Amino acid sequence: MPKADRTPRPPTRKNPLTKTRPECCRRVIPGNAAQAWSKPASILKKPDVRALLDGSPQAGILEVGAGALRNALHLLKEGFRVHVFDPLAAACRFPGRYREFEKLGGKVLQKLPSRPTYEIILTTYVIETICCPHERRELVRRIAHCLMRGGFWILSVRGPRNIVLVQRKSERCSDGYLTSQRTFVRSYTKAQLEEFLRSNGFKYLKFLHGPSLEEPELLDVIARKAKNE
Ligand SMILES: C[S@@+](CC[C@H](N)C(=O)[O-])C[C@H]1O[C@@H](n2cnc3c(N)ncnc32)[C@H](O)[C@@H]1O
Repeated sequence: MPKADRTPRPPTRKNPLTKTRPECCRRVIPGNAAQAWSKPASILKKPDVRALLDGSPQAGILEVGAGALRNALHLLKEGFRVHVFDPLAAACRFPGRYREFEKLGGKVLQKLPSRPTYEIILTTYVIETICCPHERRELVRRIAHCLMRGGFWILSVRGPRNIVLVQRKSERCSDGYLTSQRTFVRSYTKAQLEEFLRSNGFKYLKFLHGPSLEEPELLDVIARKAKNE
C-alpha cells in the first residue's frame, strides 16, 4: 500500500465566496439572460395571483431580477406601486423601458432594502439563471428579509421540460448548463423547488398547477412568509 504523503503543505488562504463557486460560473454573463419580452409572464394571469393582487391594490410590489421590465411595466399600468431591482445592468441594456417605467412613477432600486419593506415580491425566471448555488440561496435569504411578515413571494421557475432544447446545445456547468450566450440555466422539479424554498425559510407554499400535472413546464408558486418571524 503506498504511504500517505506527509509533506507539510503551505497554508492556503481561502476566499469564502470563491471557495464554493464552480470554476465554469466565471464564464457566465448573467445579465445576458434578460430578453426584451413584451408580454408579462404567464403567472400574472393565474387566478390565485390575480386574486392576491386585486385584493391588495395598495400593496407595495418589488420585482427582483426585473430584466426588461415586462412585468413591472404591466403592473404599474394596472395601477400598482412597483419598485424593481436588477443588479446586472438591465437598465443599461433597456434604457427606453427604464425611462418609461420611471416616468410612470416606478422606482429603480440600486440595492435591496435592509429591512422588511414589501407586501409582495415577484421574480420570474431568475433563481434558475444564477450559476452558483450559494449565491442563489443568498438571493432567497435577501428576498425573505425584505418581505414583510405574512407577505407573499410570487415566483416562476423553469421546469425540466422547458430546458430540453437548451441542454442539447449547452455544456454542463455547476448544477445546470452554460449556454452558447454565456447564460446559465438549470431547471427545478416540483420536489426540488419545494425543498429549496422550505430549506430557505418559506414554509407556506402554493403550487399553481393542477394536481394532474405533476411536472409542468413552468413552475408557478406563491410562497408566504410566516406571520410570526
Ligand atoms: C431570464 S431574465 C428574467 C427577467 C424578467 N424577470 C422576465 O421574466 O422577463 C433573469 C434576470 O435575473 C437577473 N438576475 C440575475 N442574478 C440576479 C441576482 N442575483 N439578483 C437579482 N437579479 C438577478 C438578470 O439580470 C436578468 O435580468
